[in-house]
Amino acid sequence: RSAFARFATGSPLFCCGCAGRQSALDAAGSEADATSFLFWVLVITGALIWLALAGLLVYAIRNRRRTWSEDAAGRLILWAGPVFSSTVLFGLLTYTLWLMPGLRPPTDSALRVEVIGTQFWWRVVYRKSARPPVTSANEIRLPVGERVEFVLRSDDVVHSFWIPSLGGKMDMIPGRTNTLSLLAERAGSYGGACAEFCGTSHALMAFSAVAMMPDDFERWLDTQSRPAPGAPGPGRDLFMRHGCGSCHRIDGTEARGLLGPDLSHIGGRETVGAGILPNTEETIARFVAEPAALKPGTRMPSFSMLPPEEIRAIATYLKGLK
Ligand code: CUA
Repeated sequence: RSAFARFATGSPLFCCGCAGRQSALDAAGSEADATSFLFWVLVITGALIWLALAGLLVYAIRNRRRTWSEDAAGRLILWAGPVFSSTVLFGLLTYTLWLMPGLRPPTDSALRVEVIGTQFWWRVVYRKSARPPVTSANEIRLPVGERVEFVLRSDDVVHSFWIPSLGGKMDMIPGRTNTLSLLAERAGSYGGACAEFCGTSHALMAFSAVAMMPDDFERWLDTQSRPAPGAPGPGRDLFMRHGCGSCHRIDGTEARGLLGPDLSHIGGRETVGAGILPNTEETIARFVAEPAALKPGTRMPSFSMLPPEEIRAIATYLKGLK
């Protein structure tokens, strides 16, 4: 962590909201580090200028009976004022522009993660050379210390992909492909969010970004590459019988729908409903019963007409897909 990040997160008086799993000032990646460093340069320069101006103001008030045009302070404000302001602004602009190319480094990443924003969740596809692509949803995993290229698209309206602890945000624009390169430096689970207003549930379009040690990440990717059809039983039968498979895909089963999030391995994800609830059987059951109550504007229909024990069985089946 940069000295500034440690200073910021360690001084409660100065900055009590800076720490946390979704803070651009609690950097866990090289891009976020550069951004938070720039933020502190701007804040501290601004504070110093404010102090200097406040000092001049106090001086001016104390000496208000003097004639300004003949006074040294008056001349200072008349001439040094514009020169000082333009020098400072030009200096900060130059520094910002100098930082920018470093935030968009050329990528030769072995791992590419395609993320497609859609109202109000995220399709995720991992592509790594010599591996078949792995499809997932609403959670992103990445190896610590390896640069990852994110390929960002949208299915419907403009969304924006943002993991504040790891780096800057990037818009997802229909008909366009944007890329973003991120390097996680610290293992952990970070908050990600949609940063562009995209409809009723924009504020509920979130995800977890989990940075893992490279070996753990490879093992995780191995697991994701294998079909996990889940235990045969009433839950699985009900899932197929009620037509859930026409919108959702579960690798290794007849569920091949592409409209909704891919549910292969959903039991191993941190959240349910794209970052809005912790992942438990109970929250899965709640989401299946009344998706629109938890996420207004969702295209998933309600299944509250099913007996609670059937919903429970479906939730048990889904939670078991790891
Ligand atoms: Cu998607 Cu806001």
